[in-house]
Amino acid sequence: MVEMGKREKGRGRNGKWSLLLLVLSVSVGCNASLPEPESPAARLYQQRCSLCHRLYAPSILTAEMWRFMLERMDMEMQRRSVPLPTSEERAILLEYLQKHAQKTS
Ligand code: HEC
Repeated sequence: MVEMGKREKGRGRNGKWSLLLLVLSVSVGCNASLPEPESPAARLYQQRCSLCHRLYAPSILTAEMWRFMLERMDMEMQRRSVPLPTSEERAILLEYLQKHAQKTS
């Protein structure tokens, strides 16, 4: 009888962990709509571009509009003293966004 009581307590501690896991998987789930979510480019996009607003799906703009939009975002980042992506990072971001951009026919 006493033994069983101890086990009950142990299970309570596990409960906390599964709550943490639940929270983690929910926050990962928010980015599930990004294409290639595990790729370095997608991670960079999440890091650099979610500071001021939610992430926009690459498919909302055409490739040409993304080029223009990144320039506009540079201005926003300068204005708010957010460090700009390096030219290398910029190229990765642009390539990623354009690859998955809205297709123009
Ligand atoms: C320093 C803050 C900041 C960062 C960092 C930032 N943005 Fe923005 N972004 C803004 C603001 C402010 C607006 C809304 C004003 C506007 O549309 O010009 C915006 C709007 C947008 C829009 C929507 C424009 C529209 O007309 O609906 C897109 C798409 C976008 N950002 C993409 C990006 C991408 C891609 C990055 C990463 C390279 C990025 N943003 C990083 C501040 C930021």
